[in-house]
Amino acid sequence: MPEKLTVLVVGASRGLGLGLAEEWCGRDWNVIATERNPSKGLEALARRYQNLEIEKLDITDAASVRRLRERLAEHRLDILFVNAGIAKAAGATPATAMEADFLDMMLTNALSPVRLVELFEDLVRADGVIAVMTSGLASIANNTGGFSELYSASKAALNMLMKCFASRHPNDTRAILLVAPGWVRTDMGGSNAPLSIEESVPLVVETVARHRGKPGLRFVDRHGNTLPW
Ligand SMILES: NC(=O)c1ccc[n+]([C@@H]2O[C@H](COP(=O)([O-])OP(=O)(O)OC[C@H]3O[C@@H](n4cnc5c(N)ncnc54)[C@H](OP(=O)(O)O)[C@@H]3O)[C@@H](O)[C@H]2O)c1
Repeated sequence: MPEKLTVLVVGASRGLGLGLAEEWCGRDWNVIATERNPSKGLEALARRYQNLEIEKLDITDAASVRRLRERLAEHRLDILFVNAGIAKAAGATPATAMEADFLDMMLTNALSPVRLVELFEDLVRADGVIAVMTSGLASIANNTGGFSELYSASKAALNMLMKCFASRHPNDTRAILLVAPGWVRTDMGGSNAPLSIEESVPLVVETVARHRGKPGLRFVDRHGNTLPW
């Protein structure tokens, strides 16, 4: 029997992260899913699947990230998927936004995911994938204005920091993916979003799976199409 594949989903308490954990559980992977606080969604998933392990993590808390790294020291990951993110100051411009909102987004969406990748990357197998959830709004080339300027800036910063990470690992054999899931109905995406979690997540999972064994950094949408930086 081939060994089961393992994925770590960071930020899986609800929304897309919970959907990713559920999708990989259904595909019979070993799934390690993190929550900041006890998540009813993960609790329900754990009742359905024995292949789910729940861990506690706040991505912005360095001690919490280090503790999880120590707990997972003996694990080997086929996929590391950093999904955690926040959106604030939706209608604001740099002139009107609260500084604290911008700083929170830069810390949660840009700095902390890459710091986590730095600390966990040696757990990812040579043919594995390091994936981070970004957004189509991170694309500077596609920007036509008018949408969540400060959130977009934090995701563009995430993309830049992942590009810097990839540049520092020129001989890395793993795929490094920045994945945009589309506009999805979650607490963050809101009820007007055109996509359900069930419509986005399986495509994201397929795209990530297709990149196993394909080294290099890519910024892609849920279908795997390349997006302009
Ligand atoms: N929905 C969309 O249309 C859309 C589009 C493009 C990109 N995205 C990106 O997709 C990802 C998931 O978004 P979503 O729509 O599912 O949002 P969501 O429903 O608001 O869920 C966000 C998830 O991130 C977790 N999280 C936030 N801050 C965290 C922290 N400091 N440490 C650990 N976990 C933390 C949350 O945990 P708690 O429950 O503890 O808060 C929750 O599990 C985000 O990176 C988002 O930017 C979403």
